[in-house]
Amino acid sequence: KELSYSEAIQRAGTNICRFPLIPVRGIPLMCYIANNWDSIWAFRPDPSDLLIATYPKAGTTWTQEIVDLLQNNGDAEACKRAPTPVRSPFLEIFSPPPIPSGLDQLKKTDPPRIIKTHLPLQLVPTGFWENKCKVIYVARNAKDNLVSYFHFDCMNLTQPEPGPWEGYIPKFMRGELPWGSWYDHVKGYWTERETKNILYLFYEDMKENPRREVERIMRYLDLSVSDEVISRIVELTSFKNMKENPMANYSCVPAPVFDQSISSFMRKGEVGDWRNHFTPEQSKMFDEDYEKQMKDVNIPFRDLI
Ligand code: A3P
Repeated sequence: KELSYSEAIQRAGTNICRFPLIPVRGIPLMCYIANNWDSIWAFRPDPSDLLIATYPKAGTTWTQEIVDLLQNNGDAEACKRAPTPVRSPFLEIFSPPPIPSGLDQLKKTDPPRIIKTHLPLQLVPTGFWENKCKVIYVARNAKDNLVSYFHFDCMNLTQPEPGPWEGYIPKFMRGELPWGSWYDHVKGYWTERETKNILYLFYEDMKENPRREVERIMRYLDLSVSDEVISRIVELTSFKNMKENPMANYSCVPAPVFDQSISSFMRKGEVGDWRNHFTPEQSKMFDEDYEKQMKDVNIPFRDLI
């Protein structure tokens, strides 16, 4: 009998630790990704596959759930067929056996697939561009993204130790966290959004008017669902409902990988939580550096000041 996702993680038990980072073309990646880089880079998607790309903690899971529901005409039961990483494989993830890798999961899933990645644009396997796959990118304001990542690194016992909060901010600013620089990540996809037909979304827009953003996603995917179904999708993908949904709240990834007694995967789901974390001095230092790192682009991020 094939192990369930949760069983595989528990079975992997003693092989799990806070893994180190290894750079791939200058981007710090979890060592198990770097060590399997050739097979990830060689992945060939189907033209019908959709890629959901984000810097970690920008709203990936939320977007995966919206897309799955849109593709299933708002059928909540159909979207409870399996946990998120099974329904929507995580391209580059490799963990100790028997946890299935993203590539294993993709082999078991027929196109069209909803593929998740945190890779910066230059590390996305070229087949996605050659096959003109659709790509949805979700960006979240830097300070909230940082706060969310900090709490995630506390509870994800496979990622490097986050250390104390005050030391975490400079690590984020220097691009030393897994998947590298937030600044380069959001800029890379922004710069190519027109040439590569990328739908570039913002977490803050999704919070402000989820219906409008679900409709944008629907149009981008050339889908058409009724107004009533849109309303249902908005409701099913509210923070509260996703937090309670065992197929979306990552309870499928038990300790020793995610210790949700430290921090929930569905933690707060708010805009502006950074104000509860940054001191005025930290905020000033961050803003000064932000201006330098972002001076060459004009991406309309909100809620940073
Ligand atoms: P917080 O830590 O700020 O709560 P990702 O899926 O990319 O890992 O992002 C996780 C972040 O998105 C977490 O942020 C999580 O709570 C938030 N999130 C997940 N589902 C959400 C939803 N339906 N609405 C709003 N935020 C959501």
